Amino acid sequence: MPNVIIPPGWRLPEKLATPESVYRSRRAFLKQLGFTGAGALLGSIAASQHLLAQDKPGAKKTYPFPRNPKFNDPKLRVTDEEFATGYNNFYEFTTSKTRVKRLTHRFVISPWEVEVGGLVEKPAKFSVDDLVSTMPMEERLYRFRCVEAWSMNVPWTGFPLSKLIEKVSPKSDAKFIKFTTFFRPEQAPGFAEYDAYPWPYTEGLRMDEAMNPLTLVTTGMYGKPLPKQNGAPIRIVVPWKYGYKSIKSIVRIDFVTEQPKTLWETLAPDEYPFESNVNPNVPHPRWSQRTERVIDTGNRFNTQLYNGYGEYVAKLYQS
Ligand code: MTE
Repeated sequence: MPNVIIPPGWRLPEKLATPESVYRSRRAFLKQLGFTGAGALLGSIAASQHLLAQDKPGAKKTYPFPRNPKFNDPKLRVTDEEFATGYNNFYEFTTSKTRVKRLTHRFVISPWEVEVGGLVEKPAKFSVDDLVSTMPMEERLYRFRCVEAWSMNVPWTGFPLSKLIEKVSPKSDAKFIKFTTFFRPEQAPGFAEYDAYPWPYTEGLRMDEAMNPLTLVTTGMYGKPLPKQNGAPIRIVVPWKYGYKSIKSIVRIDFVTEQPKTLWETLAPDEYPFESNVNPNVPHPRWSQRTERVIDTGNRFNTQLYNGYGEYVAKLYQS
């Protein structure tokens, strides 16, 4: 994904890429055995029991959280979980997408706190466990589009970033939000291996982008807490922007006046500009943005402006 230093590790190795015919026949086989129907039935029973359990006063909130019907497009085929959790960009560990998972064994994700500060009236530290038990948790099926022209559809669990912003009362001169990932070379080999990178990984949003209802503080996927390779225990998901804006494993959130410098923008500003909205009409020096390849099926689709979320965000960019 980044500049010229990186080998083309973005190709899915043959052994991970299930040919579509195999994938489809596996589904047909399971269906024949009645497994998909039974699975769906068991799933809905489990979900209703879970809702009842959570409704009891004082009950600890836990996964899976109910899916928000507004973000449950039945036309979106959920990406196979093993692909979404086995094909990752997480440069703190490695640039090889299929090796990230294996290299996370030393990464400690609990306890974990996120410190929120900068231009706010009420700076605070939040533990991830407290956030999960107190915030309005929900599941949302979102399209996710990487600048490398691959895509997936993932059920993420979290809560709108706007709810966290309200808690800290930003000052009027706060115009941008800067996010920062952990920096622990002893737990992640990528820091030493790519020591020329301007670590830690940072990203940012404009205040109105951060307040947009789509911007999700994410702690889970597929009805469970986030796996380490997908940014445990807490990340941001911004579905109308290229995936590198969806920063993983955050430890700090700062409210600032100036547009923050991000890791990718510092490395290659012509390839990874701050705004980075998904847009088939803005050419990229390395990857055509006209179409995208779905990571598990290999199917190709035309890229949609704002990744299909124009009804929520187009108004932010009409000057
Ligand atoms: N966040 C951190 N801290 N480090 C990273 O290397 N990679 C980004 C983004 N967030 C990255 C990160 C990129 S390029 C993409 S496409 C997505 O995470 C990938 O998320 P996924 O592995 O959950 O699919």
